[in-house]
Amino acid sequence: MAIERTLSIIKPDATKRNLTGKIVAKFEEAGLRVVASKRIHLTAAQAGAFYAEHSERGFYGELCDFMASEPVVVQVLEGEGAIAKNREVMGATDPAQADDGTIRKDFALSKGENSVHGSDSAESAAREIAFFFSGLELVG
Ligand code: PPS
Repeated sequence: MAIERTLSIIKPDATKRNLTGKIVAKFEEAGLRVVASKRIHLTAAQAGAFYAEHSERGFYGELCDFMASEPVVVQVLEGEGAIAKNREVMGATDPAQADDGTIRKDFALSKGENSVHGSDSAESAAREIAFFFSGLELVG
């Protein structure tokens, strides 16, 4: 399988509860390597630009406000089949549907406050990585 890179966000509900290390450990245990990482505090407008594809959905305003409510940790994860592997480790969007041992099963509070974001395709990964990082910040 090809080596890929994917964009991960540790969301405000998780940074607020001091879960960053526990979540990164799950990525590393799954064979994903952190090749870029930074802690930032998004504005609602920046969150809105990142989630522009959801702008017509009813929860968009809530999602933007939530993502701007506390700091987040944005990371690039690298590994074999990293995009699918990251989504496997995260678990289903709704923690009630997530498999045992996944990040969302263990830590998420709701479908909105669900602790992590991960790119859903190669195209999304390329766009989302470029949204937060320059090439110089990716250190494999
Ligand atoms: S999915 O898997 O993309 O189809 O899930 P979806 O339901 O479309 O959700 C897309 C993202 O929106 C977030 N979300 C919400 N945020 C706030 N409030 C509510 N009610 C809500 N419902 C869904 C959800 O966590 C997804 O975020 P990301 O970061 O893309 O995983």
